Amino acid sequence: MTTYEYHYGFGNEHQTECVPGALPLVQSNPQKVPMGLYAEQISGSCFVSEGRSLLRSWIYKKSPSVDIKDYSSFKSAKTWLTPGAASESEFVDFPQTLRWSHLEEPFQEGKTEWFDRFVTVCGTGSVRARKGAAVHLGKVSAEASSCFRNADAEMVLLPYNGALNLETEFGGLRIDVGEIAVLPRGVSFRFGKSQGSDVYLCENYGSPFQLPNRGLIGANGLANPRHFAYPKAQCFMDVSGLMFTKYMGSFYQQEISRSPLDVVAWFGNYAPYKYDLRLFNTMGSISFDHPDPSIFTVLSSASGVSGEPDLDFVIFPPRWLVGEETFRPPYFHRNVMSEYMGILYGTYDAKPGTKNGDGFHPGGGSLHNCMSPHGPELEAYKSAVDADLAPEKLADTMAFMLESRFPWQVSNQAMQASWRQAKYTDCWRGFEPAAVKSNKAT
Ligand SMILES: [Fe+2]
Repeated sequence: MTTYEYHYGFGNEHQTECVPGALPLVQSNPQKVPMGLYAEQISGSCFVSEGRSLLRSWIYKKSPSVDIKDYSSFKSAKTWLTPGAASESEFVDFPQTLRWSHLEEPFQEGKTEWFDRFVTVCGTGSVRARKGAAVHLGKVSAEASSCFRNADAEMVLLPYNGALNLETEFGGLRIDVGEIAVLPRGVSFRFGKSQGSDVYLCENYGSPFQLPNRGLIGANGLANPRHFAYPKAQCFMDVSGLMFTKYMGSFYQQEISRSPLDVVAWFGNYAPYKYDLRLFNTMGSISFDHPDPSIFTVLSSASGVSGEPDLDFVIFPPRWLVGEETFRPPYFHRNVMSEYMGILYGTYDAKPGTKNGDGFHPGGGSLHNCMSPHGPELEAYKSAVDADLAPEKLADTMAFMLESRFPWQVSNQAMQASWRQAKYTDCWRGFEPAAVKSNKAT
């Protein structure tokens, strides 16, 4: 198993070198970089962004990134769709609640590049307008992939079956099930050899994810900045073949003559990172009722409108339920925000059943769009209202939600897919009306 080293701290100014003396100690861009390396800056924010929103790193490479052949188009299978760049007919607006089963292989047999083995489920916003997101599902093979750089989006990778090895220009990251990787826009990487992995992939076209403001919670709780791990410089030198770039929804290829992952040293706050979701310090009620799911927010992409994030990444981790005289599962609700949900392992307490389709399992997903009513399925409701309310631990579970202020559009391929559960809404059939005599209609 590949071992990688990390340094910790969300958004900190990290610095690292894999050869002693490679990192310039004072200047970012000295006249002569130590060891004949080439200095290069990657900016992830506008130059004049303020405070912690200002994101940039300096990398010190054996060859500058410009030393590569010109771009040429790559004909992909077009199962990976990008809102704002794909044809409008590829997506459909639909208010109905939807759910999908695990995406079975082989769904893209014979495809050789990793991104060609991904399928877009839903998307929203516009890559061109730098807002919104998309959710893709796919499989990363056990072999090392070609190099890749996404100019369109920050990417969040969530493996649910098999660990990932990421070889990035900033260093290596191993992502086990229960962890996430965040790859900033424009960072070069490839998937290293692994056992193969099934993955949820979120593209965030908007502002880079930040930790949410904790407000009244105070200084501690939720995702702790010190648990976010950044790679140490590793200089992957055996990389050749092709470099792929995703730009405005299309894929381009370049022949590599120098390794794109030849960074010997770097410093800055714009770099890939990983986070172990099991380290989330979960908050909740210790009296009665339970708070809204915003209490489970791990990362948030700001829209510029206060209180209206473009995209929140929320988890439903193991936790104690202790609310007295309380209906403890997620309640019936409808939101102005639109929710895509997936699950990495275990059972989600609002949807434990397997009736009505194949249930809600790792690799599956559900979509509850703006103001579409949803909530616990019938069996979950019945057992919750009849439960003996002793303190209860929800263990071995990790569901997540990508919640956007924009309604998600469903891809036509996901709408028509055999793995869409056509009878999903049957999970809400059979509720007995309350025995209250209605007023006569006039
Ligand atoms: Fe919901």
